[in-house]
Amino acid sequence: MKNLLAALAALAAASLLNARQPAAIKLNSPDKTRGASVMQALAGRHSTREFSERALSLQDLSDLLWAANGVNRPDGRRTAPTAANKQDIDLYAILPDAAYLYDAKEHALTPVAAGDFRPLVAGAQKFALQAPLHLVMVSDFSRFGAAGDQLKRLWSALDAGIVSQNIALFCSGCGLATIPRTTMQSDKLKEALKLTGDQVPILNNIVGYPRQAAAAAAARQAGNFHDFKVRDINGDDFDLAALKGKKVLVVNVASKCGLTRQYTQLQELYKKYGPDKFAIVGFPANNFGRQEPGTNAEIKEFCSTHYSVTFPMMSKISVKGDDIHPLYAWLTQAAVNGKQDAPVTWNFQKFLIDENGNWAGVVPPKTPPDSEIITGWIEGR
Ligand SMILES: Cc1cc2nc3c(=O)[nH]c(=O)nc-3n(C[C@H](O)[C@H](O)[C@H](O)COP(=O)(O)O)c2cc1C
Repeated sequence: MKNLLAALAALAAASLLNARQPAAIKLNSPDKTRGASVMQALAGRHSTREFSERALSLQDLSDLLWAANGVNRPDGRRTAPTAANKQDIDLYAILPDAAYLYDAKEHALTPVAAGDFRPLVAGAQKFALQAPLHLVMVSDFSRFGAAGDQLKRLWSALDAGIVSQNIALFCSGCGLATIPRTTMQSDKLKEALKLTGDQVPILNNIVGYPRQAAAAAAARQAGNFHDFKVRDINGDDFDLAALKGKKVLVVNVASKCGLTRQYTQLQELYKKYGPDKFAIVGFPANNFGRQEPGTNAEIKEFCSTHYSVTFPMMSKISVKGDDIHPLYAWLTQAAVNGKQDAPVTWNFQKFLIDENGNWAGVVPPKTPPDSEIITGWIEGR
């Protein structure tokens, strides 16, 4: 029995180790036809310090690495030139699950170490932690042979800078966000990446999708209201497809607003017309006057104690700006909802959605929930 338990424990430990061991990533062939023109990419290049946390697609990751420092000729030379063609720059891709080395010849990512090493690249710059990918340019001084130290330092900096600019131009031309940085915890990073004494981290680029663009892209993929999945106020999944066949009023709520009293009319409206043919969905948001500062638990307690709310309440989200939730990107942008630009102007703006999930209208924050424009729409007048 003891032996069996020991064997089981060893097996569990082994499978845990295996589970932790990241696998190599075979990259897609680079799509050399994509992207804006070189002049447009140059015109749009800029550093970004706000990123969506959405992971890069495999194609974007593959194309980015190839653009940065891939092999572009049969003789093995690269997209980035290097002093005396010493090819001293190794590109490390730090993803949330592990650190990888870019193998340009195989166009693949080889795992180096499991774990999230982005904090070592971020250093004191917390914004960097949002980005799903950190690329670290490491120069291997041993490849410069007998050159003097001063020359090695100069060459490595120049070579890394060129790779960094390849990254920047790819990102600009293909709708990604990036920033070059010398900030990083070099010593800890050297340890984490298992570098030799000759290998020096020179520069990094953190890369991701721009925040708002990510929400709009997700919204475009969704198509209509019923395609979104959100989280309710308890943190559980809430599939908006469950509201198919009902008219829906979507409202961004706040607990400390002059309009907070609208909860009373919203609840009355829901009692009168819901829940079979009509629903209200409330999204707490702290975007206006910081009037929804509490946690989901506090908000839930507030609206049930003070207003006996029974209509579905969702988790707190952002309804505007760079961190806008994809549903609100859809609700507020004509380019995605196909109907109208309707930015949220304050707490308690109401959006009307028809039975088929189409955008049907917007009602300003100050217009009461029981006004004719809303009741008439619900009753089909
Ligand atoms: C070599 C180099 C190192 C940089 N290091 C950092 C850094 O550690 N942190 C940071 O926030 N920005 C860093 N930057 C970004 C610059 O601040 C940025 O490029 C500059 O403000 C110009 O803005 P632009 O890139 O939008 O033209 C670095 C840029 C370069 C070229």
